Amino acid sequence: MQTVLITGGAGFIGSHLVERLLRDGLCVRVLDNLDPFYDVAKKQRNLEMLRAVASSCGGASRFEFLLGDLRDAEACRAAVAGVDVVVHLAALAGVRPSIQEPVRYWDVNLLGTQVLLQAIENPQVRFVFGSSSSVYGGNTKVPFAESDPVDRPVSPYAATKKSGEVQLHAWHHLRGNPVTCLRFFTVYGPRQRPEMAIHQFARHITNGTELPFFGDGSTRRDYTYVEDIVAGIVAAMDKPKPYAIYNLGGAATTSLAELVGHLERALGRPARRKLLPDQPGDVPITYADVSLAGRELGYRSSTPLAQGIDKFCAWYMQEKREGRVL
Ligand SMILES: NC(=O)c1ccc[n+]([C@@H]2O[C@H](COP(=O)([O-])OP(=O)(O)OC[C@H]3O[C@@H](n4cnc5c(N)ncnc54)[C@H](O)[C@@H]3O)[C@@H](O)[C@H]2O)c1
Repeated sequence: MQTVLITGGAGFIGSHLVERLLRDGLCVRVLDNLDPFYDVAKKQRNLEMLRAVASSCGGASRFEFLLGDLRDAEACRAAVAGVDVVVHLAALAGVRPSIQEPVRYWDVNLLGTQVLLQAIENPQVRFVFGSSSSVYGGNTKVPFAESDPVDRPVSPYAATKKSGEVQLHAWHHLRGNPVTCLRFFTVYGPRQRPEMAIHQFARHITNGTELPFFGDGSTRRDYTYVEDIVAGIVAAMDKPKPYAIYNLGGAATTSLAELVGHLERALGRPARRKLLPDQPGDVPITYADVSLAGRELGYRSSTPLAQGIDKFCAWYMQEKREGRVL
């Protein structure tokens, strides 16, 4: 039976991946320091849910949680012991906070990744890295393809993700381990990070408070439902390449104005928009060309935005009824 280490497995995407792998019958270990970037209680609830899933799938012993920091060599050595695959999702995420704290982002996202890599001694261990569409910076040629230039990031966060891909190439070259970098395009769904736009907007719409509406509403994003991302990660785990980079996106692009419209429809309430200027570090458009991931991993985005927003809003309203969101 395969053993998989998921760094950042207590977080949004990580907890969905762990859940899927436990249901698939794999042994899963999580390394996460429960960073307080957002309410730690949410991560603890994710872990409780994962323990319950493991028990209900008849394998409580198939799930192990290690509380530890990526930058701690001892914690990383314990985490990688005996694993077949590492899915590295632990990071400081988010473009805007990285502009305030670039050194911390560099420390966790790059030093942390290097400490983790140093701990892996077995050249058979497959490595999958959670990269980001932000590496495409302000590129205007759409859709974004993996072969496009990505040497002009526009935020410290994006720079750490591009640097992570480069760092992993050097490690693969020297050590031979298979590496797949997956560029996720704005991921949403139940348990989404609370500072992300869809989550924030749902909070404002349901509370009747003003929603920060940046620019003229024409910025466009490619939104990807979390289960599609998880399916892409699992495909990358199962089809290792020597070194590869793939986009995982929704392969469609939606304006900010249209996104707010979807949320108003699903939540049954109008939004109060507070018009604000464009934000530094924001890019005008993201749009994934997923044809390479389609050909080589069998990836496809199967959740249209309207359907995914309905699922997110159903989860959000349940959280609200149970007093877990304000
Ligand atoms: N959510 C998105 O739209 C999106 C888009 C592109 C890329 N990504 C990438 O996907 C990954 C997961 O993102 P997410 O949205 O689930 O974020 P998240 O913040 O919910 O998950 C990240 C997890 O990493 C953990 N972590 C942070 N620093 C750590 C450290 N020093 N040691 C150990 N654990 C640490 C956190 O506690 C958290 O549980 C990140 O690498 C992120 O950059 C996410």
